[in-house]
Amino acid sequence: MTIIRAKDYQDLSRKAANMLSAQVIMNPSCVLGLATGSTPIGIYKQLVEWYQKGDLDLSKVKTVNLDEYKGVAPTDPQSYRYYMDSLLFDHVNIDKDNTYLPDGLARDPEEECQNYNSILQILGGIDLQLLGLGHNGHIGFNEPGHSFGTETHLVQLAQSTIDANSRLFDKPEDVPRYAYTMGIKSIMHAKKIVVVASGTDKAAIVKKAFTGDVTPEVPASILQLHGDVTLVADEAALSEME
Ligand code: F6R
Repeated sequence: MTIIRAKDYQDLSRKAANMLSAQVIMNPSCVLGLATGSTPIGIYKQLVEWYQKGDLDLSKVKTVNLDEYKGVAPTDPQSYRYYMDSLLFDHVNIDKDNTYLPDGLARDPEEECQNYNSILQILGGIDLQLLGLGHNGHIGFNEPGHSFGTETHLVQLAQSTIDANSRLFDKPEDVPRYAYTMGIKSIMHAKKIVVVASGTDKAAIVKKAFTGDVTPEVPASILQLHGDVTLVADEAALSEME
């Protein structure tokens, strides 16, 4: 694993955006696996800036997101589709037909999971997967204790994840309890993985995930077994690594 040490969140965002941008320059029709959450916001902002300057062309890129809440419409500001559109897709020259997220309103969850797996297969796999890191070590919404061998599935979110997400909702009862997520098996098939982590509140889990035992209790620990993982983290998130 390579560790890229960033001074602060802004530096982290620029460094990680550089890796995504380099991937697109090397292969303009690549498949990017994308994440939502707080950490990638600066990365998407940076990519939009480079696009506006004429330094980035996303016209042939395809994207697959890690996850989506079940029961939340794509037009709902809390949905991950809305997040991706408003922070990135609406501001760059990507063809939205080439951007994929699980359908939160799908009638049949089992069928939706199969659909998403088929999309991943048809796209030919992910060239670069961007990941954030949950405080409990989750990646995507693969929560502690689940098997490493899964593809896309519906998960009941851990209470700690529901609590962490509640800051983004008006009322605690509005926080979704279920989400679709790409499985660990699909994530591990990505050719290249970039994990981003920022802030002292991520320091303990960064240490545990990247230097502790590989165990389903810390889903991100499986990344230690992937051949091409880069952790881009700020000094605060790396503060327990020394
Ligand atoms: C988001 C996702 C989650 C987040 C993780 C960290 O698509 O899959 O695993 O990456 O919860 O979130 P932040 O960046 O908000 O700390």
